[in-house]
Amino acid sequence: MHPGVFGEPTVAGAFADDAYATAKGFVRTRVLHRQLLEHLPAPPAALLDVGGGAGHQSLPLAEIGYHVTLLDPSPVMLDKARERVARLAPAARERVELIEAPGESAGAATGGRLFDGVLCHGVLGYLDRPDPMVAELCRLAAPGGIVSIMTGNAATMALRPALEGRWGDALAAFDSDREIGVLGVPARADTVESLSSFLRAGGVEPVARYGVWLFVDLLEFGRAPDDSALNDPAQWPAIAEVEFEAGRRDPYRQLSRVFHLIGRKA
Ligand SMILES: C[S@@+](CC[C@H](N)C(=O)[O-])C[C@H]1O[C@@H](n2cnc3c(N)ncnc32)[C@H](O)[C@@H]1O
Repeated sequence: MHPGVFGEPTVAGAFADDAYATAKGFVRTRVLHRQLLEHLPAPPAALLDVGGGAGHQSLPLAEIGYHVTLLDPSPVMLDKARERVARLAPAARERVELIEAPGESAGAATGGRLFDGVLCHGVLGYLDRPDPMVAELCRLAAPGGIVSIMTGNAATMALRPALEGRWGDALAAFDSDREIGVLGVPARADTVESLSSFLRAGGVEPVARYGVWLFVDLLEFGRAPDDSALNDPAQWPAIAEVEFEAGRRDPYRQLSRVFHLIGRKA
């Protein structure tokens, strides 16, 4: 098994340690969490976090009573997850299981179990193509269970280069689904429509589509004169409230550089 770029400590650290220590990292976790709770059954229920990395999204779910299986092919990311699990309260710690495996073979790695929620956040963009992974996510969902995918939005690729004043890149981005992402590694984006059709092919009906963050990107990439809110953790909960509302309303949710798509297995 090849762990990919997240097997490299610099990339793993840039994501799990650095990105999550920012306003955007705070908003990402907080907003996704609230969106997920609108669809997940009440705890205790069994969740599988495919490409779960250091567990920033799923360990808070273990803390509120869910049973979490976190699967990832990168030993470096799993070490970070292990450190974070060790800091949980004992009862929550017992609800977490870590498995080293790629998501495409998650079914075999988890022994054929089915899950009430299958999460896959920030993973598809690092794969050559999304459909084999989406098919596996659908297979792993129990009847009535949800599949939650968060990934780059191919419809908003021009936003970042335009805000950064890279006009040539911005023009090319309208017809591209690839970029060098904020972690400095190549990343691919998808559309809500294409992932929705892959979900339907797997017997999962899309039920909700959200944006996850918007205003933090406008502030960060646009170099707003007063971006002090991004550097003041005391303001991050208020930003997350605003982003949560924007993430569920048009036109804001359509402008987010990522989307969160939730489907329910028949
Ligand atoms: C950007 S991180 C996201 C981590 C986590 N889902 C989160 O939202 O915090 C991408 C993760 O995808 C994992 N990954 C890469 N290729 C994968 C694959 N084929 N199957 C499962 N996970 C994979 C990486 O090891 C890394 O932990």
